[in-house]
Amino acid sequence: MRFKAVIFDLDGVICHTDQYHYQAWKQIADQENVFFDEQVNNRLRGVSRMESLEIILEQADRPYTEEEKSVLAETKNEIYKKLLKNMTRADLTEEVKGVLDNIKNSGIKVAIGSSSRNTKLILSRIGLADYFHTVSDGTNIQRSKPDPEVFLKAAEALKLAPEECLVVEDAQAGIIAAHRGGFHSAGIGEASKFHLTEYPLSCMGDLLNVFE
Ligand code: BG6
Ligand code: MG
Repeated sequence: MRFKAVIFDLDGVICHTDQYHYQAWKQIADQENVFFDEQVNNRLRGVSRMESLEIILEQADRPYTEEEKSVLAETKNEIYKKLLKNMTRADLTEEVKGVLDNIKNSGIKVAIGSSSRNTKLILSRIGLADYFHTVSDGTNIQRSKPDPEVFLKAAEALKLAPEECLVVEDAQAGIIAAHRGGFHSAGIGEASKFHLTEYPLSCMGDLLNVFE
């Protein structure tokens, strides 16, 4: 087998929390009268909460103080967490669960590499709390994607070299992080059209073809 582990991004790969991030940021942007659309939102994929806010505020017509920014980021997270309360095991699709089980049952390690500080909350809501061999997330990193730190921490926990691992991402920032860290990469959604993506996927089921 070519890869000894698959490191999955969470938001937009395992589940569709990317939509909830969008809805929560949209409320903040509307409240502040700041332009925000899907294109701006795509730049937030894989990027930490505070860095996401900085990107949104590029469209603002006035500077914001550090204190205002931390209030906005906190408010966004409260809105986001309320939306997460709607999530259940039903938000893990059969397709994704099937792909995960198939990979794990063939003896390949499975891991999470996400910038989110809400990773463990989300994994427990969708019934994957104890599923992965390791979970590397926003709580154990200093630098978010496109820095490779989150994936390097996952590989280290698995005692594997980056080149033995395949990263699965929906974000360009995540693919760049994988590339910089020396990992192989598969991209879905926005990341499937990105030139650095080694294996473009049209759906998660396609991931199994990479292992044939
Ligand atoms: C990433 C998302 O997974 O997590 C980003 O793609 C998000 O959009 C980042 O900003 C941080 O998430 P959280 O849950 O810590 O605010
Ligand atoms: Mg993502």
